[in-house]
Amino acid sequence: MNKETVTITDNRTGKSIDCPIKKGTHGPSVIDCHQLPSKLGLFTFDPAFVTTASCESKITFIDGEKGILLYRGYPIEQLAQHSSYPEVCYLLLYGELPTREQMDNFNHSISQHTLLHEGLVNFYKGFRHDAHPMAMLVGVVGAMSGYYPDALDIQNPEHRNMSAVRLIAKLPTIAAKIHKYLIGQPYVYPRNDLSYVANFMHMMFSVPMEPYQFNEKATRALEIMLILHADHEQNASTSTVRLAGSSQAHPFSCVAGGIATLWGPAHGGANEAVIRMLHDIKHPKNIQEYIRRFKDKDDPIRLMGFGHRVYKNYDPRAKIIRDSCYNLLEELGMKQHVLFDIALELERIALEDEYFIERKLYPNVDFYSGMILRALGIPLNMFTVMFAVARTVGWVAQWMEMMEEPNLKIGRPRQLYTGAQRRDYVQVEERI
Ligand code: ACO
Repeated sequence: MNKETVTITDNRTGKSIDCPIKKGTHGPSVIDCHQLPSKLGLFTFDPAFVTTASCESKITFIDGEKGILLYRGYPIEQLAQHSSYPEVCYLLLYGELPTREQMDNFNHSISQHTLLHEGLVNFYKGFRHDAHPMAMLVGVVGAMSGYYPDALDIQNPEHRNMSAVRLIAKLPTIAAKIHKYLIGQPYVYPRNDLSYVANFMHMMFSVPMEPYQFNEKATRALEIMLILHADHEQNASTSTVRLAGSSQAHPFSCVAGGIATLWGPAHGGANEAVIRMLHDIKHPKNIQEYIRRFKDKDDPIRLMGFGHRVYKNYDPRAKIIRDSCYNLLEELGMKQHVLFDIALELERIALEDEYFIERKLYPNVDFYSGMILRALGIPLNMFTVMFAVARTVGWVAQWMEMMEEPNLKIGRPRQLYTGAQRRDYVQVEERI
């Protein structure tokens, strides 16, 4: 029996309620106030859920003050150094690092589901040549439930697992096909002899005349980017997936909802905004002027890729991806490229500037992920799609966890109604 409580008293009536305090493994405790409506006739008001824990989860932990990120308890630094993206997928989905045999079986199942149904391939032709890749991704992933009807029973754990494997296996194929469609090149089929990440690069960059020339450091840089973006607890897109899933909707539609949410510039679009900002700056000689503008309250522009709602310390992902980005630029001989020159100088100046130091504004993961994607030759409008490929496992793992809850309830927030009072209908002739 949990004896720790917080007493909430309604001073208008004198009635009070003892709300139990629930403790997690790490992080702040929460007040369980679900009895407020029945006992006090009150709801909580928490726009944007800034103080609300919407669920209990065992998947990812973030400490924004200390700059900590754990997947299933494992620090992101160790996973980025030692693990592979498929191994991280296994960990997020099933809770433990796999044995060699479990990993082989998982890789095999993924490789058996990388192909797209040919009917789904035709579906692409309905899109305009200049469609936004994220619009196509939302559409194609949403349409998937119409092509794989053999695993539609979400109450069946085997069906749920099959949907999870299909989503993780097919997202790179879907994304690469979007890229090929928009640049007018033929669709490149997946290859089972390649690793998950190498296969993704093959589908993105090979052409019928010549295969893609792999560069080990480039492949590893993309793998690290995917690992770092795999999950980030209850962010906007993940919360969307959970809310959609709570109505017992099919996971393909729930993930399509997550992709739609990720599309917004306040969420997955920041890596693209960083590159656009670097283009606007044009030359290192303009940096000081831009720094002045970033600090000016009357100027709406901000230093994109700096600051974070949760991390008030270094974003742990940014530290890792920064080194990966530097190594990649060195390897590809791109450090002197004007865009990267601007980025590195901007970072140096901002980190020494009192304005950014005082406000705890550090580079976030997007400051560097945009540069990595750019250096890999991925077009700007595909950046959020790359993020979606990485985050699919997080969405699916959170959905699976929610579906395993014994008393799953449909998500249904309440509101503070401030509209018109009750009034009677007025006939049109009588309206003034
Ligand atoms: N450039 C200049 N000033 C900034 C920046 C920035 N990037 N970020 C915050 N500030 C300033 C604000 O003007 C404010 O200054 P003040 O105290 O003098 O008024 C102070 O720092 C605090 O800013 P808030 O907006 O209150 O911080 P919040 O935590 O709400 O915002 C956010 C976080 C939205 C990420 C913000 O830092 C930002 O806009 N950054 C640029 C966009 C970006 O990189 N987004 C990606 C985030 S990572 C991700 O989503 C994967």
